[in-house]
Formats: sequence, structure tokens, C-alpha cells
Amino acid sequence: MSRGAVIVTGASRGIGEAIARELAGAGYDLALVARSVEPLAALAAELDGETTCLACPGDIADWEDAQRIVGEVHERFGALHGLVNNAGVTRDGLFVRMSPENWQVPIDVNLNGTFYFTRAVSPIMMRQRNGRIVNITSVIGLTGNAGQANYAASKAGIIALTKSVAKELGGRGVTSNAVAPGFIATDMTADLPEKVRAGMLSQIPLKRFGEGKDVAGVVKFLLSPEAAYITGQTLVVDGGMIG
Ligand code: NAI
Repeated sequence: MSRGAVIVTGASRGIGEAIARELAGAGYDLALVARSVEPLAALAAELDGETTCLACPGDIADWEDAQRIVGEVHERFGALHGLVNNAGVTRDGLFVRMSPENWQVPIDVNLNGTFYFTRAVSPIMMRQRNGRIVNITSVIGLTGNAGQANYAASKAGIIALTKSVAKELGGRGVTSNAVAPGFIATDMTADLPEKVRAGMLSQIPLKRFGEGKDVAGVVKFLLSPEAAYITGQTLVVDGGMIG
């Protein structure tokens, strides 16, 4: 039996794909969102079986797309248990040389995209008097980082949004939490120079980079009945990196 429907953004690869696999295995119906149509369709087809898994291509930085996708998913499943705002991008560069355009991209995708999907599901979850919102932020949103002022600001904004939504929607039975991964081995981190990777590894007490499933397990917990009394929190999943 299904444990309810969950929307996962950025599900075509990386952490989002790991979250989709974990949640399908736990018995949730899924609506997977990403811009890339083919990998998304392939993953949805693979996971569609014991539970239902839909591919919902779209751009999270587009309010119309967010409303359309949430509307379609709600119509298809009749209820919505959870939303996992995972899709995200980086546009790294030194702050003194950062163009307004490069500043704007992570804000549009990471912060606005999280706002659009959260805004679109909120009336549904409030009416249900039940719902779980899980936002993937980053340790960089807590610490800041040289070369990532734009990304750090977008991720810090997600933490503040998470806390505000927790306060506003808590009375209607909706929880809102964030997960802050440290260094997770995905396409996003694959291009970093070896020197940077070695430097980061030396700062991780657990002596390994994280995997998608390290984050996915925490997301599954936040969607579960065991996490019913947790809201407004940011859970750091970084092998001890930021202490
Ligand atoms: P990734 O680059 O491997 O995957 C990103 C996913 O987001 C892809 O499915 C992509 O299609 C989707 N996406 C990007 N822009 C989109 C848009 N405008 N509309 C719809 N979908 C879009 O990234 P990764 O590493 O899996 O990261 C996932 C999340 O975790 C991101 O929010 C990232 O900031 C966060 N994170 C990642 C860390 C890491 O070390 N990999 C560390 C901390 C946070």
C-alpha cells in the first residue's frame, strides 16, 4: 500500500535520484521533476511498479511550471504527502568578479524554485491539515564560502524560508525542515580540482565523501511518522565537516 505521494525536484540524477530510489523503496508514490526529459522518464519507468512513479519535466525556476506540475500531481493522486525541494545549481566565481547574471542564477533556481513549489503545495497541504516539506540546502548556507557567495546566499535563504514556513503552516499540521549536506559525490562536485577535493576530505572527520543515499535516508526520516514532531530544523549531513 502507498504511504502517500511525494514530489521530488531535481530527481534525474545525483542526490535527487538517490532520494527517489529510497522513497520508492519505502512505498511512496512519486512525482519526479527535472528539466532533462529522457533520464527522468527512464528513472520513472524503472521505479514505476509497486508504487506509482510519474515523470514531470519542467523548470523549477518557472512559477507557471510549478503550478502546473503540482496541479497535475494533486489531480492524479488526490492528496499530497510531501515535497522534497532538491533541484539546485551552482555558478561559482570570486565575488569581486561576479556578474549580476551569475549572481542571479542560483537565486532563481535554488531559492525562487523552492519558493514556487512550496507556495504551490501549501494550500493543498493546509487543506489536508497534513504535509511534509523537506528542502535541500547546504552547509555552505550556514558557513558561507569563498567563490560561492551567490550559492551561499540562495542556500541561506532556503533555511530562512524553511523556518518561516514551519511557523506559518505548523498550525495546519504541515512541517517544514531542511537538510544541509556537506560534500556529496555527484556530478555537481565531480569537476572540482583534485587539490580542492583532497583539502575537503582532510576536513571530514568520517574520512569519506558523502553519497546520495546518506542524504536520502535523512529525507526519508523527515517524511516518516517518526519525524512528526520535528519542524523548522536544519539537519546537517556532512560527516562532521563543519563541526
Ligand atoms: P546535480 O547537479 O547532480 O543534480 C541537480 C538536479 O537538479 C538535476 O536533476 C537537474 O536536472 C536538476 N535541476 C537543476 N536546475 C533545474 C531547474 N531549473 N529545473 C528543474 N530541475 C533542475 O546536483 P546534486 O549534487 O545532486 O545536488 C542536489 C541538491 O543538493 C542541490 O540543491 C545542491 O545544491 C544540494 N547540495 C549538493 C551537495 C553536493 O556536494 N553534491 C552539497 C550540498 C548541497
